[in-house]
Amino acid sequence: MSDAASLIQELQRLEAEAIETLAHAADTAAVEAVRIDFLGRKDGRVSRVLRGMGRLDPADRPEVGAAANRVKAALETALTARLAELAAGEAGPGVDLTLPGRSSWEGGRHPVTRVMDEMWNVFRDMGFSRARGPEAETDWYNFEALNTPLDHPAADEQDTLYLEHSHLLRSHTSPVQIRTLEQYAPPIRILAPGWVYRRDTYDATHTPAFLQVEGLVVDEGVSFVDFKATLAEFARRMWGEGTQIRFRPSFFPFTEPSAEVDVKRVIELPDGSSRETDWLEIMGAGMVDPAVLDAAGVDSERYTGFAFGMGPARIAMLKYGVTDLRTFFESDMRFLEQFVPEAAR
Ligand code: PHE
Repeated sequence: MSDAASLIQELQRLEAEAIETLAHAADTAAVEAVRIDFLGRKDGRVSRVLRGMGRLDPADRPEVGAAANRVKAALETALTARLAELAAGEAGPGVDLTLPGRSSWEGGRHPVTRVMDEMWNVFRDMGFSRARGPEAETDWYNFEALNTPLDHPAADEQDTLYLEHSHLLRSHTSPVQIRTLEQYAPPIRILAPGWVYRRDTYDATHTPAFLQVEGLVVDEGVSFVDFKATLAEFARRMWGEGTQIRFRPSFFPFTEPSAEVDVKRVIELPDGSSRETDWLEIMGAGMVDPAVLDAAGVDSERYTGFAFGMGPARIAMLKYGVTDLRTFFESDMRFLEQFVPEAAR
């Protein structure tokens, strides 16, 4: 390499090193130190390199001189820019030191999730397992295996969201009964939470998607007494000792007999006295129809069972005094913030 080329290379190396050092210069004194180290007139490192020019062929000097000037100018620009940066950081515009500090957000569980978790805790303690099934189902699992012929009103296109090729969005969590019975031998005790879909208008009491929690118990010798006692125990653990339940006769194609189950709670008033609530419907339920066991390949001579389906959003509405179901879906922080745990507020 010629002497000229090696001097130019040395200048470029110094430039890179100076810029790197500048980036770490934390105050104006440090910037000034960089200036003296690299651009100092007598002992600066750039000046020292230029002293080597004397050895050069005079024809090569202009090229090295031009390179030196370019490097000096670049360093001056970088020094000025770094000083400006430091000045902005010290008392930059838009930084108001008198503003209160930012508080951090702490999330809370959604009110419907809370109710579902409470339900799960109770049934888990009673020996239930979790189960789940697909949201896109076939009409066999959603209707026919559940003893519901496809010309039943529930299967009508007015109520159910159909997909292609006999598939649909499940209109309840009851198909998980069939899938569980197909997959596991009794004794079965499951709780199956999940989303279900219906062709409903979106208003204060209906949403086209909502959560259900399905329960199923199948074993030898499961009787109506087990059915009633299990649900009464659930209600007491969920809502407290004084809670009563009542069964109203109803109809579902997949249970026989069928019932709608209501609860009446005792609530404590601030003055220490207590009051009974109105009856509140919490679930549809019944003894599993033998046709359902048969459809799932379970021996209906040997096994019996009961099933129930709950709507946790409805229960959350009553629990929290919410009058419009849509507020559960609209992610309005003014609403959801109320459910952040006390300690985090
Ligand atoms: N699947 C029923 C519904 O969506 C509820 C139900 C479940 C009823 C299990 C009886 C037994 O309304």
